[in-house]
Amino acid sequence: MSRSVKLFFASFIVFGFLLSVESYAQQIAARDSKTPAKLNLGRAALPEEIKAWDTDVRADGKGLPPGKGTVKQGDELFQAQCAACHGEFGQGVGRWPVLAGGLDSLKADRPDKTIGSFWPDLSTVFDYIKRAMPYGNAQSLSNDDVYALTAYLLSMNDIVKDENFELNDKNFTSIKMPNASAFFEDDRDVAEKSFWGHEPCMKNCKPAVPKVTGRAISVDVTPNGKSGPKVD
Ligand code: HEC
Repeated sequence: MSRSVKLFFASFIVFGFLLSVESYAQQIAARDSKTPAKLNLGRAALPEEIKAWDTDVRADGKGLPPGKGTVKQGDELFQAQCAACHGEFGQGVGRWPVLAGGLDSLKADRPDKTIGSFWPDLSTVFDYIKRAMPYGNAQSLSNDDVYALTAYLLSMNDIVKDENFELNDKNFTSIKMPNASAFFEDDRDVAEKSFWGHEPCMKNCKPAVPKVTGRAISVDVTPNGKSGPKVD
Protein backbone atom coordinates (compact mmCIF):
# COMPACT_ATOMS: atom_id res chain seq x y z
CA MET A 1 0.00 0.00 0.00
CA SER A 2 1.46 3.37 -0.97
CA ARG A 3 2.07 6.01 1.68
CA SER A 4 -0.66 8.31 0.44
CA VAL A 5 -3.21 5.44 0.41
CA LYS A 6 -2.20 4.59 3.99
CA LEU A 7 -2.60 8.22 5.02
CA PHE A 8 -5.99 8.30 3.31
CA PHE A 9 -7.25 5.31 5.31
CA ALA A 10 -5.65 6.55 8.53
CA SER A 11 -7.48 9.86 8.22
CA PHE A 12 -10.76 7.93 7.87
CA ILE A 13 -10.06 6.04 11.08
CA VAL A 14 -9.26 9.26 12.99
CA PHE A 15 -12.33 10.95 11.54
CA GLY A 16 -14.52 7.97 12.50
CA PHE A 17 -13.11 8.05 16.02
CA LEU A 18 -13.85 11.78 16.38
CA LEU A 19 -17.38 11.22 15.10
CA SER A 20 -18.06 8.44 17.57
CA VAL A 21 -16.70 10.57 20.46
CA GLU A 22 -18.99 13.37 19.39
CA SER A 23 -22.08 11.17 19.03
CA TYR A 24 -21.37 9.64 22.44
CA ALA A 25 -21.20 13.15 23.93
CA GLN A 26 -24.50 13.97 22.22
CA GLN A 27 -26.12 10.84 23.65
CA ILE A 28 -25.01 11.79 27.16
CA ALA A 29 -26.30 15.34 26.68
CA ALA A 30 -29.64 14.03 25.39
CA ARG A 31 -29.95 11.64 28.31
CA ASP A 32 -29.11 14.36 30.85
CA SER A 33 -31.34 17.10 29.47
CA LYS A 34 -35.01 17.17 30.50
CA THR A 35 -36.37 17.92 27.02
CA PRO A 36 -35.76 15.38 24.21
CA ALA A 37 -32.95 16.29 21.77
CA LYS A 38 -34.13 17.84 18.51
CA LEU A 39 -32.22 17.60 15.28
CA ASN A 40 -33.31 21.05 14.13
CA LEU A 41 -33.14 19.99 10.50
CA GLY A 42 -35.48 21.09 7.70
CA ARG A 43 -38.93 22.61 8.13
CA ALA A 44 -42.52 21.46 8.00
CA ALA A 45 -43.75 20.85 4.42
CA LEU A 46 -46.10 23.55 3.09
CA PRO A 47 -49.66 22.51 2.15
CA GLU A 48 -48.90 23.35 -1.53
CA GLU A 49 -45.83 21.09 -1.44
CA ILE A 50 -47.86 18.19 -0.02
CA LYS A 51 -50.57 18.80 -2.63
CA ALA A 52 -48.01 18.66 -5.45
CA TRP A 53 -46.88 15.18 -4.34
CA ASP A 54 -50.30 13.88 -3.36
CA THR A 55 -51.56 13.01 -6.84
CA ASP A 56 -52.30 9.30 -6.56
CA VAL A 57 -55.61 8.05 -7.95
CA ARG A 58 -57.09 4.99 -6.29
CA ALA A 59 -59.16 2.18 -7.75
CA ASP A 60 -62.32 3.52 -6.10
CA GLY A 61 -61.75 6.90 -7.78
CA LYS A 62 -60.37 8.63 -4.70
CA GLY A 63 -57.88 11.29 -5.78
CA LEU A 64 -59.37 11.87 -9.26
CA PRO A 65 -59.06 15.55 -10.16
CA PRO A 66 -62.03 17.31 -11.80
CA GLY A 67 -61.79 17.17 -15.60
CA LYS A 68 -62.97 15.60 -18.85
CA GLY A 69 -61.83 14.52 -22.28
CA THR A 70 -63.22 12.64 -25.29
CA VAL A 71 -61.86 9.74 -27.33
CA LYS A 72 -61.47 12.11 -30.29
CA GLN A 73 -59.43 14.64 -28.30
CA GLY A 74 -57.34 11.80 -26.93
CA ASP A 75 -56.68 10.50 -30.45
CA GLU A 76 -55.17 13.86 -31.47
CA LEU A 77 -53.02 14.10 -28.35
CA PHE A 78 -51.92 10.49 -28.72
CA GLN A 79 -50.82 10.87 -32.34
CA ALA A 80 -48.85 14.03 -31.43
CA GLN A 81 -47.25 12.94 -28.15
CA CYS A 82 -47.36 9.18 -27.78
CA ALA A 83 -47.54 7.43 -31.17
CA ALA A 84 -43.82 7.90 -31.90
CA CYS A 85 -43.12 5.25 -29.27
CA HIS A 86 -46.39 3.40 -28.71
CA GLY A 87 -47.57 3.32 -32.36
CA GLU A 88 -50.64 4.94 -33.93
CA PHE A 89 -52.89 2.14 -32.63
CA GLY A 90 -50.97 1.39 -29.43
CA GLN A 91 -49.26 -1.55 -31.15
CA GLY A 92 -45.80 -0.36 -29.97
CA VAL A 93 -43.02 0.85 -32.27
CA GLY A 94 -39.93 -1.36 -32.19
CA ARG A 95 -39.56 -2.52 -28.63
CA TRP A 96 -41.54 0.31 -26.97
CA PRO A 97 -44.46 -0.97 -24.88
CA VAL A 98 -47.67 -2.19 -26.53
CA LEU A 99 -50.76 -0.47 -25.09
CA ALA A 100 -53.63 -2.26 -26.83
CA GLY A 101 -54.79 -5.73 -27.83
CA GLY A 102 -53.91 -9.06 -26.28
CA LEU A 103 -57.47 -9.78 -25.11
CA ASP A 104 -57.87 -13.52 -24.40
CA SER A 105 -54.12 -14.09 -24.68
CA LEU A 106 -53.46 -14.43 -20.96
CA LYS A 107 -53.57 -18.24 -20.98
CA ALA A 108 -51.27 -18.48 -24.01
CA ASP A 109 -47.60 -19.42 -23.69
CA ARG A 110 -46.68 -15.83 -24.41
CA PRO A 111 -49.45 -13.70 -22.93
CA ASP A 112 -49.82 -10.16 -24.25
CA LYS A 113 -50.32 -8.13 -21.10
CA THR A 114 -51.70 -4.74 -22.06
CA ILE A 115 -53.90 -2.19 -20.33
CA GLY A 116 -56.92 -3.81 -22.04
CA SER A 117 -56.03 -7.45 -21.55
CA PHE A 118 -54.43 -7.34 -18.12
CA TRP A 119 -54.82 -4.18 -16.02
CA PRO A 120 -57.65 -4.55 -13.48
CA ASP A 121 -58.24 -0.86 -12.70
CA LEU A 122 -58.64 2.17 -14.94
CA SER A 123 -57.28 4.38 -12.15
CA THR A 124 -53.81 2.90 -12.78
CA VAL A 125 -53.95 4.08 -16.41
CA PHE A 126 -54.86 7.62 -15.37
CA ASP A 127 -52.32 7.72 -12.53
CA TYR A 128 -49.51 6.27 -14.67
CA ILE A 129 -49.99 8.62 -17.60
CA LYS A 130 -50.32 11.66 -15.36
CA ARG A 131 -47.24 10.75 -13.35
CA ALA A 132 -44.87 9.35 -15.96
CA MET A 133 -45.84 10.07 -19.59
CA PRO A 134 -44.91 11.20 -22.17
CA TYR A 135 -41.59 9.54 -21.46
CA GLY A 136 -38.95 12.26 -21.22
CA ASN A 137 -41.51 14.99 -20.62
CA ALA A 138 -43.41 13.61 -17.64
CA GLN A 139 -46.08 15.68 -15.84
CA SER A 140 -46.51 18.07 -18.75
CA LEU A 141 -50.13 16.97 -19.41
CA SER A 142 -53.19 18.74 -18.01
CA ASN A 143 -55.89 16.75 -16.21
CA ASP A 144 -58.20 17.14 -19.24
CA ASP A 145 -55.40 15.78 -21.49
CA VAL A 146 -55.04 12.73 -19.25
CA TYR A 147 -58.83 12.10 -19.26
CA ALA A 148 -58.81 12.34 -23.07
CA LEU A 149 -55.80 10.02 -23.46
CA THR A 150 -57.33 7.50 -21.04
CA ALA A 151 -60.57 7.63 -23.05
CA TYR A 152 -58.59 7.01 -26.26
CA LEU A 153 -56.81 4.03 -24.69
CA LEU A 154 -60.22 2.61 -23.69
CA SER A 155 -61.33 2.97 -27.30
CA MET A 156 -58.14 1.39 -28.69
CA ASN A 157 -58.78 -1.55 -26.39
CA ASP A 158 -62.44 -1.83 -27.53
CA ILE A 159 -63.67 -1.11 -24.01
CA VAL A 160 -65.65 1.89 -25.30
CA LYS A 161 -66.92 1.93 -28.90
CA ASP A 162 -68.09 5.51 -29.44
CA GLU A 163 -65.48 8.07 -30.51
CA ASN A 164 -67.61 10.84 -29.00
CA PHE A 165 -67.47 9.15 -25.61
CA GLU A 166 -66.35 11.56 -22.89
CA LEU A 167 -64.50 10.30 -19.83
CA ASN A 168 -64.73 12.51 -16.75
CA ASP A 169 -64.37 12.35 -12.98
CA LYS A 170 -68.11 11.51 -12.62
CA ASN A 171 -68.32 8.47 -14.93
CA PHE A 172 -64.76 7.23 -14.38
CA THR A 173 -65.52 4.46 -11.87
CA SER A 174 -68.39 3.11 -13.99
CA ILE A 175 -65.84 1.70 -16.48
CA LYS A 176 -65.08 -1.95 -15.80
CA MET A 177 -61.83 -3.39 -17.11
CA PRO A 178 -62.08 -6.78 -18.91
CA ASN A 179 -59.65 -8.62 -16.64
CA ALA A 180 -60.80 -7.06 -13.34
CA SER A 181 -62.43 -10.23 -12.02
CA ALA A 182 -59.21 -12.25 -12.41
CA PHE A 183 -57.66 -10.20 -9.61
CA PHE A 184 -58.73 -10.99 -6.07
CA GLU A 185 -57.70 -10.26 -2.51
CA ASP A 186 -54.76 -12.32 -1.27
CA ASP A 187 -56.58 -15.29 0.31
CA ARG A 188 -53.59 -17.46 1.16
CA ASP A 189 -54.37 -17.42 4.87
CA VAL A 190 -57.54 -19.37 4.00
CA ALA A 191 -56.71 -21.11 0.69
CA GLU A 192 -53.35 -22.43 1.88
CA LYS A 193 -54.32 -22.91 5.50
CA SER A 194 -53.78 -26.65 5.50
CA PHE A 195 -50.30 -26.17 4.06
CA TRP A 196 -49.19 -23.49 6.51
CA GLY A 197 -51.49 -24.49 9.36
CA HIS A 198 -49.12 -26.38 11.64
CA GLU A 199 -46.75 -24.58 13.94
CA PRO A 200 -43.32 -24.11 12.40
CA CYS A 201 -40.54 -26.02 14.14
CA MET A 202 -38.15 -23.62 15.85
CA LYS A 203 -35.81 -25.95 17.81
CA ASN A 204 -34.55 -29.52 17.76
CA CYS A 205 -36.22 -29.91 14.39
CA LYS A 206 -33.97 -32.46 12.75
CA PRO A 207 -31.63 -34.95 14.29
CA ALA A 208 -27.96 -34.23 13.58
CA VAL A 209 -26.66 -35.69 10.29
CA PRO A 210 -25.88 -39.24 11.35
CA LYS A 211 -23.01 -40.08 9.04
CA VAL A 212 -21.25 -38.51 6.08
CA THR A 213 -21.51 -41.08 3.33
CA GLY A 214 -19.52 -39.49 0.51
CA ARG A 215 -17.39 -36.50 -0.38
CA ALA A 216 -17.61 -34.46 -3.55
CA ILE A 217 -13.88 -34.66 -3.94
CA SER A 218 -13.93 -38.46 -4.19
CA VAL A 219 -16.24 -38.41 -7.22
CA ASP A 220 -14.06 -35.71 -8.74
CA VAL A 221 -16.72 -32.99 -9.06
CA THR A 222 -14.57 -30.54 -7.12
CA PRO A 223 -11.26 -29.90 -8.89
CA ASN A 224 -8.46 -30.73 -6.53
CA GLY A 225 -5.83 -27.99 -6.15
CA LYS A 226 -3.42 -27.80 -9.06
CA SER A 227 -5.14 -30.45 -11.14
CA GLY A 228 -8.21 -28.21 -11.71
CA PRO A 229 -8.74 -26.20 -14.88
CA LYS A 230 -6.85 -22.92 -15.11
CA VAL A 231 -9.07 -19.89 -14.53
CA ASP A 232 -7.91 -16.40 -15.49
C1 HEC B 1 -40.14 8.35 -25.91
C2 HEC B 1 -41.02 7.21 -25.90
C3 HEC B 1 -42.37 7.32 -25.23
C4 HEC B 1 -43.34 8.27 -25.45
C5 HEC B 1 -43.31 9.46 -26.39
C6 HEC B 1 -44.46 7.89 -24.62
N1 HEC B 1 -44.16 6.76 -23.92
FE1 HEC B 1 -45.43 5.72 -22.71
N2 HEC B 1 -43.95 4.42 -22.26
C7 HEC B 1 -42.65 4.50 -22.73
C8 HEC B 1 -41.84 3.54 -22.01
C9 HEC B 1 -40.35 3.31 -22.19
C10 HEC B 1 -42.69 2.88 -21.10
C11 HEC B 1 -42.32 1.83 -20.08
C12 HEC B 1 -41.73 2.51 -18.90
C13 HEC B 1 -41.39 1.57 -17.79
O1 HEC B 1 -41.80 0.40 -17.79
O2 HEC B 1 -40.70 2.04 -16.85
C14 HEC B 1 -44.01 3.44 -21.32
C15 HEC B 1 -45.15 3.00 -20.64
C16 HEC B 1 -46.40 3.51 -20.84
C17 HEC B 1 -47.61 2.97 -20.25
C18 HEC B 1 -47.67 1.72 -19.37
C19 HEC B 1 -47.71 0.50 -20.27
C20 HEC B 1 -47.67 -0.83 -19.55
O3 HEC B 1 -48.39 -1.76 -19.96
O4 HEC B 1 -46.90 -0.97 -18.58
C21 HEC B 1 -48.63 3.78 -20.64
C22 HEC B 1 -50.09 3.63 -20.28
C23 HEC B 1 -48.07 4.82 -21.49
N3 HEC B 1 -46.71 4.62 -21.59
C24 HEC B 1 -48.81 5.83 -22.06
C25 HEC B 1 -48.23 6.85 -22.80
C26 HEC B 1 -48.96 8.01 -23.28
C27 HEC B 1 -50.45 8.22 -23.07
C28 HEC B 1 -48.07 8.79 -23.95
C29 HEC B 1 -48.32 10.14 -24.60
C30 HEC B 1 -48.81 11.19 -23.74
C31 HEC B 1 -46.78 8.12 -23.91
N4 HEC B 1 -46.92 6.97 -23.19
C32 HEC B 1 -45.65 8.59 -24.53
C33 HEC B 1 -42.19 5.32 -23.74
C34 HEC B 1 -42.90 6.39 -24.26
